[in-house]
Amino acid sequence: MNQFDLTGQVSLVTGASAGGLGYHSALALAEHGSDVYLADQASRKEDLERTKAAVEGLGRHAEIGFVDVADEGAVDAMVTAALDTFGKIDVLVHHAGVMLRKDAFEMTLPEWQRIVDINLTGTWLVDRRVAREMVRQKRGKVINTSTLYTNIVGPLPESAYYASKAGVANLTRGLALEWGKHNIQVNCVAPGVFYPTQMTGPLGAQPDRLEWMRQRTFLGRLGNPETDLRGLVVFLATAASDYVTGQVIFADGGWTAW
Ligand SMILES: NC(=O)c1ccc[n+]([C@@H]2O[C@H](COP(=O)([O-])OP(=O)(O)OC[C@H]3O[C@@H](n4cnc5c(N)ncnc54)[C@H](O)[C@@H]3O)[C@@H](O)[C@H]2O)c1
Repeated sequence: MNQFDLTGQVSLVTGASAGGLGYHSALALAEHGSDVYLADQASRKEDLERTKAAVEGLGRHAEIGFVDVADEGAVDAMVTAALDTFGKIDVLVHHAGVMLRKDAFEMTLPEWQRIVDINLTGTWLVDRRVAREMVRQKRGKVINTSTLYTNIVGPLPESAYYASKAGVANLTRGLALEWGKHNIQVNCVAPGVFYPTQMTGPLGAQPDRLEWMRQRTFLGRLGNPETDLRGLVVFLATAASDYVTGQVIFADGGWTAW
């Protein structure tokens, strides 16, 4: 038995637009045999279509849908559409998220609220909606997304991001506790600096900062979205990780091992 085989399975990936980590996760799942429902904001339609074409290029079935993960009704509509298309969801990879770099004294309450709504509340909404189906199916894999700045912070003012992503990590543990009895594994990937994506692309204009990040990483290089995340997502999505739950797994080149 190939423990990494996803043939006949269906994955839902949020934040799935080309240009981000979700594109790579979707392709990794498809490479291992999964059909994929690809979700992102409506404004990312063209990039979502690019991911869809890439998944289909691997011979897998892909469909796209739009969602604001902070809106419970929209989350319900996304999951309902995925179920209408594929009939089930075996794997959820929830990557949708936002980052805002702003001094706490300058941040407005609506800005703070929006970051927390998308990163933390959005994770709860999406996980919970999908897990309701997984309970019926008596199995499922939920993969959330935090950051290397889960238990530590970075050098820049991103406190809403740090706080919301720390919340995602402990939410993961709490849901793993609740859903273990349903044979649902809930884990969290914590990427280091994966470059470039839409989120990290602006670093290109700051070569000194990129160099500092490289030096700060044990492996002496930044994460490559093409190669450094896919294996971890496949591991957490497949039978290979059936006894792994409630974990935050850092793919950060050693950054957090200081
Ligand atoms: N790239 C990195 O180095 C890195 C490092 C640590 C953590 N992360 C995390 O990984 C995830 C993916 O990041 P990325 O680098 O691919 O960035 P990205 O900006 O390319 O991806 C984030 C995606 O989330 C989507 N999104 C934002 N708000 C949304 C909403 N309200 N509803 C639905 N979708 C929404 C965006 O459209 C985008 O496609 C994020 O959660 C991010 O915090 C990334």
